[in-house]
Amino acid sequence: MLVLGIESSCDETAAAVVEDGTRVLSSEVASQAAVHRPYGGVVPELACRNHVRAIVPVVRAALENAGLGDRAPDAVAATQGPGLVGALLVGFSFAKSYAHAKGIPWAGVNHLMGHIHAVFLAPDPPEFPFTALVASGGHTAVYTVVSHLETRCLGQTLDDAAGEAYDKVAKVLGLGYPGGQVIDTLARQGDPGKIPFPRIWLDRDAYDFSFSGIKTAVARHVARNPDTFREETADIAAGFQAAVVEVLAEKTVRAARETGTGRIVLVGGVAANSGLRAAVAARGERMGIRVWAPPVALCGDNAAMIAAAGYHRLAAGERDGLALDVFSKIPDKGVAGLGGRM
Ligand code: KG4
Ligand code: ZN
Repeated sequence: MLVLGIESSCDETAAAVVEDGTRVLSSEVASQAAVHRPYGGVVPELACRNHVRAIVPVVRAALENAGLGDRAPDAVAATQGPGLVGALLVGFSFAKSYAHAKGIPWAGVNHLMGHIHAVFLAPDPPEFPFTALVASGGHTAVYTVVSHLETRCLGQTLDDAAGEAYDKVAKVLGLGYPGGQVIDTLARQGDPGKIPFPRIWLDRDAYDFSFSGIKTAVARHVARNPDTFREETADIAAGFQAAVVEVLAEKTVRAARETGTGRIVLVGGVAANSGLRAAVAARGERMGIRVWAPPVALCGDNAAMIAAAGYHRLAAGERDGLALDVFSKIPDKGVAGLGGRM
C-alpha cells in the first residue's frame, strides 16, 4: 500500500510517500526555522501562514520525487495532533481534500505514534513490545509500545519538554534557534563536570520528568556571570547536556528493565542527541537491553513517519471521516494510548 503522509503540527511542512509502512519513496521537509529564529521560538500565527504557503509545493515535490510512474497513493495519512491547532489544520484539511478528491481512504495520526514509527523506516526494526522514549521540542514521555496500534504511557514531563529546555538554554546563551544541535556539538568540546547542574529526578520510582528547573539553573548561572559566561559556553553546554541526558537515560533504561520489554527505542528530535544515544547504549549494554534509534534525519519532524504510522491504521481497516477534527493536547496519559482515534 502506498501512503501519502502529511505533517504540519509545528514549524515543519512535510510530505512523504511510503510503501507498506517501511520503504520511504520520498520525504520532503520544508523547515520554517529561519522564520522563527528571530523570535527564539515558534510563533503560531507565522507557522500557520507559512504552512499555507508551503503545503502544495511540498506535497507536489513528494509525489514527483517518489518515482511512482503509473502508480498513485492508495491512501493518505495526516497528523491529527498534538500540536498547534492552526498549523495542524493546514495539513489535515489538505489531506482530507486530497483523499476526498481522489476517492481514497485517509487516516488521522497521532504525532507521537508517528515519531515512534520512524524506527520502522530503518533496517532491522525492533519486535514488540518495546520501551520508547519520545523526546522532542513539544513532548517528553516514556511508553510501552505493545503493537503498531497500542501504547501505554508510563510517564511524561510535568513542565518543559527536553527539546524545549535545549531551545531555551540556547536562547539564554545566545546560540540561536533551534538549540539542540548546536548545544550537542558544543557539549562535546566542554567539560561536563566543571559546572554541575542539578539532576531533577522527581520521584525516583516514577517515570515522570521535569526540565524547567535545569533551564532556570543555567539562566541563573549566566545572570551571575554576565562578563565571563561566554568564555565557558562549551562547559555550560556540556554540564547542561550531562544533567538532561542522565535523567532521560536512567529512567528509560529502568522502564525497559522494570516492564521487562528488554528493548529501547529512542525517537523525536532529541533522539538525534549524541550524548543521549551514547548514554542509553552504554547503560543498555550493561543490562542486556538492545537499543534502536532512527537515522538522525528521521528523528525530527517528517511525514514519512506519519505515513508509516497511518499505514498500520489503514491496513487494520480503520478509516476516518471528513468530520474528524485536530487536537492540540493528548487528553489523559493513563487512558489515551497513541493508537487509534483520540
Ligand atoms: O521532533 P521535533 O523535530 O519537533 C517536535 O515535535 O517538537 O524536535 C525538535 C526539537 C527541538 O527542540 C530541537 O532543539 C531538538 O529537537 N533537537 C535536539 C537535537 N537535534 C534537535 N536536541 C538535542 N540534541 C540534538 N542533537
Ligand atoms: Zn515531533
